[in-house]
Amino acid sequence: MQLGVVGTGHVGLVTCVTFAEFGHDVIATDEDQAKLEKLEVGDTPFFEPGLSELLQKHRNGKLTFSHEKRSLTDADVVFICVGTPPRASGEANLAAVENSAREVAGHAKAKTLIVEKSTVPAGTATRLRRVLRHERPDLRDDLDVASNPEFLREGAAIEDSLRPSRILVGADSGWARERMRGVYEPLIDKGVEYIETDIATAELSKHACNAFLALKISYINAIARLCERAGADVEMVAKVLGSDERIGPHFLKAGLGFGGSCFPKDLRAFDVLARELGYDFTLLRDIAKVNDEAVDAALAKVSDAVWNLDGKRIAMLGLSFKPGTDDVRFSPALELARRLIERGATVVGYDPHASEPAQAEVPEIEIAASAEDALAESHCLVLATEWPEFRALDLAKARELMAYPVIVDARNFLDGREALQAGFTYYPVGRPRLAPDE
Ligand code: UDX
Repeated sequence: MQLGVVGTGHVGLVTCVTFAEFGHDVIATDEDQAKLEKLEVGDTPFFEPGLSELLQKHRNGKLTFSHEKRSLTDADVVFICVGTPPRASGEANLAAVENSAREVAGHAKAKTLIVEKSTVPAGTATRLRRVLRHERPDLRDDLDVASNPEFLREGAAIEDSLRPSRILVGADSGWARERMRGVYEPLIDKGVEYIETDIATAELSKHACNAFLALKISYINAIARLCERAGADVEMVAKVLGSDERIGPHFLKAGLGFGGSCFPKDLRAFDVLARELGYDFTLLRDIAKVNDEAVDAALAKVSDAVWNLDGKRIAMLGLSFKPGTDDVRFSPALELARRLIERGATVVGYDPHASEPAQAEVPEIEIAASAEDALAESHCLVLATEWPEFRALDLAKARELMAYPVIVDARNFLDGREALQAGFTYYPVGRPRLAPDE
């Protein structure tokens, strides 16, 4: 099939290379000409395992890039993957979605299907359909809209797209449904669960999934706050919870809370949507509140450990919102860094991939070239993002490098007993603090 993709951000670019890998011919557009030129020569604009290889494999073959929406005229299906950033009110800004759909429609042939892949609030497709009809009254029943929410996780995006746990397609017309089955035929043939719904259900499902995953994280973080007060162990509570099949073990890792381009933004957008629909979904605001408390709790531990923050050097290991990505959007690590800096501390950060974007986001952070450099003369080590390489940290050496022997492990990632043996006071999440005899 001939496919078009509008927007080469995280979702768009992964979508392009995946569809090319399925054997479709894909044309991707973006308004950023410089970005397209880089993609054409095989340069990826962000770090995502496996992406570069697939881009190299398909660029100038199954996958081509163009600045012009006109180039999408022959596409059977066009996927809108542009950003939907939050407005000040929390609602999603859908201007780019509307404008993209209008431009695509302006050049479209009959029976072009326009698909929302960006996360959009329920009701967006109805509005888009109106835009298409207004733009192309000549193709009134020959342009249609479908919803195909993306569930990929950053850092595992290629794997999630090539081997998704399920595919969700919302469509209201027979030809749109048939078209979408054609797009996903290679996966349907492999037995991947393919769920067809009406459009409103698909749109709402995406927000419902993200909010539920965020709920699980906030639930275990709230339990961590209780464990800290009760002297209980949140890791064991999570194990007990997870061993109940009805609850399941995933997304019960207590830590510094969730960040990233989806959960924080989607929660707020879902809240606004619910209110617009006349339902006050207070639970969503509680999820966000508990998420903020995770950063407060880490800050309180650092303060407890080093006493006055003024003039203290805090080594922060991990700056991205989670390991495996250089994305720092809504990163809880950076939120913690900001709060530490506001209180007079110096934050020296190190991240295997996200140092540069972190510095751009919070210029006051001092960036170190290695974990060891960050630790030198620091009064506290904060493990903020659990990159696998931090597990190999030489704690005895760290102890020698640091001014104070304190670790705040905001992800329960290091071995607390080892830290204690190396002479550290170790503050985990939702478990008792370990301290040498004082
Ligand atoms: C998420 C959804 O998983 C994905 O389906 C959707 O399409 C986009 O949003 P992503 O933002 O890439 O994907 O990251 P994810 O792996 O889900 O983690 C989100 C955040 O939650 C991270 O900050 C992570 O550190 C945190 N998290 C996750 C926890 O704190 N505890 C957990 O148990 C799981």
